[in-house]
Amino acid sequence: MRSNRQRYYELFSKVYDFVIRLHSGDREGSLREFITEKANLSRGDKALDLCTGTGSVAIELARRAGENGLVIGLDFSRGMIEKAKEKAKRAGMVRLYLVQANASQLPFQNASFHGVTCSHAFYELKEEERAMAIDEVARVLRQKGRFCLMEHAKPERPIPRLLFYIRLLFLGSRDVRKFLSEENSVFGESFKNITKVMSPTGKSKLIYGEKGG
Ligand SMILES: C[S@@+](CC[C@H](N)C(=O)[O-])C[C@H]1O[C@@H](n2cnc3c(N)ncnc32)[C@H](O)[C@@H]1O
Repeated sequence: MRSNRQRYYELFSKVYDFVIRLHSGDREGSLREFITEKANLSRGDKALDLCTGTGSVAIELARRAGENGLVIGLDFSRGMIEKAKEKAKRAGMVRLYLVQANASQLPFQNASFHGVTCSHAFYELKEEERAMAIDEVARVLRQKGRFCLMEHAKPERPIPRLLFYIRLLFLGSRDVRKFLSEENSVFGESFKNITKVMSPTGKSKLIYGEKGG
């Protein structure tokens, strides 16, 4: 049965790309480039894009992994997955598969992927799901595989910052302040070489680490 959160994302999927185009200030797709570059994939690698939404990052990963690679975009919203499938087809991606599942229970075997990405979605997971998702990412990554997590940076101006907090609270992050200030600890003990860099747009941050605690 669908939860209220899933219903929210079903509705959002209908206008998601339009809203992102209007508000991101990233018409050239530099954020997609940024996260997929940091995923550090080689041709032929296997990668997972968690909470893929309409699949923009997954499509770029699939381009980088090439025709001998394999990329999976995973999302729990059927609407988002359908949009991602349309986009993947238009982009001519044949080694990109789109799977409807929850990030906290990944339907893959241990050590399946060379890299995992998650763009602008991790903050939106429920607190208990976040911890489970991190454990699952560590489980499905190969040793030394990289997990790249990109999130909105806290806006500088007061009104956007207030709206940012309200949205996180609405989506169930009761520990929002603690979470934002201790973000490195989110990766837990399964990852090492944890690094944080700002995006070229200056509005997002990327945290990445390698499996092998
Ligand atoms: C803000 S969108 C980001 C989409 C995409 N990663 C991007 O950067 O455009 C958040 C996505 O996370 C998905 N999502 C939220 N909670 C999830 C969960 N527990 N399991 C799987 N997907 C989830 C939503 O359906 C939505 O597509």
